[in-house]
Amino acid sequence: MSANIFPQVAIACHSGFGHTATLAHAVADGVRRGGGRVSLLHVDALTPADWDTLDGADALIFGTPTYMGNVSAGFQAFAEQTGRRCMEGLWRDKIAAGFTNSGAKSGDKVAALISLSVFAAQHHMHWVSLGLIPGWNGAGGSEHDLNRLGFWLGAGAQTDVDANADQVHPADVRTCEHLGHRVTVVTAQLLAGRAATAAA
Ligand SMILES: Cc1cc2nc3c(=O)[nH]c(=O)nc-3n(C[C@H](O)[C@H](O)[C@H](O)COP(=O)(O)O)c2cc1C
Repeated sequence: MSANIFPQVAIACHSGFGHTATLAHAVADGVRRGGGRVSLLHVDALTPADWDTLDGADALIFGTPTYMGNVSAGFQAFAEQTGRRCMEGLWRDKIAAGFTNSGAKSGDKVAALISLSVFAAQHHMHWVSLGLIPGWNGAGGSEHDLNRLGFWLGAGAQTDVDANADQVHPADVRTCEHLGHRVTVVTAQLLAGRAATAAA
């Protein structure tokens, strides 16, 4: 990565009970490790300045718990608030990615990731996949593997419904940290490519 490129990454997350928020902090750690600057925003409490941060970011990483087999109502309320931005193409060609967390091991959470990716596509954003092989899928694997639940579209995590926010599975924390790092690296590559194209 060019020493002059510090991607601005915003994490837009909803979390009813703190589990997804814990994962959002892991994503933020990955962004910082990748050399990016990060803002972690809770979508149910966005200030005008937070909306400016979202509009100014190079990459947006969306995080939601899986509720009723989809994104939470809190996240969807945020998505619907972006309608004008969608029509005006304000987020066009930003990088996007997503993560979700459910109570059941599967919990139908791929549907939430699909919703996040469609949301990004409606904004004409570039969706970045998780970029990890599936873990815990052979005799030598374990629940401690990176990407232990075997997702491709984004990061999928599982937290017991009676767990505290600080009891999110360490493998899921590392998987989300990976996502933040990957998004930052890809964003830096895109920014470098744009700069090179503009200079040519
Ligand atoms: C209204 C509601 C609906 C839920 N629906 C699902 C679901 O469809 N699948 C699942 O596995 N867990 C479901 N859960 C459990 C949550 O996904 C789980 O508790 C998650 O860790 C909550 O994350 P949060 O603390 O960030 O809100 C649901 C929880 C609530 C409150």
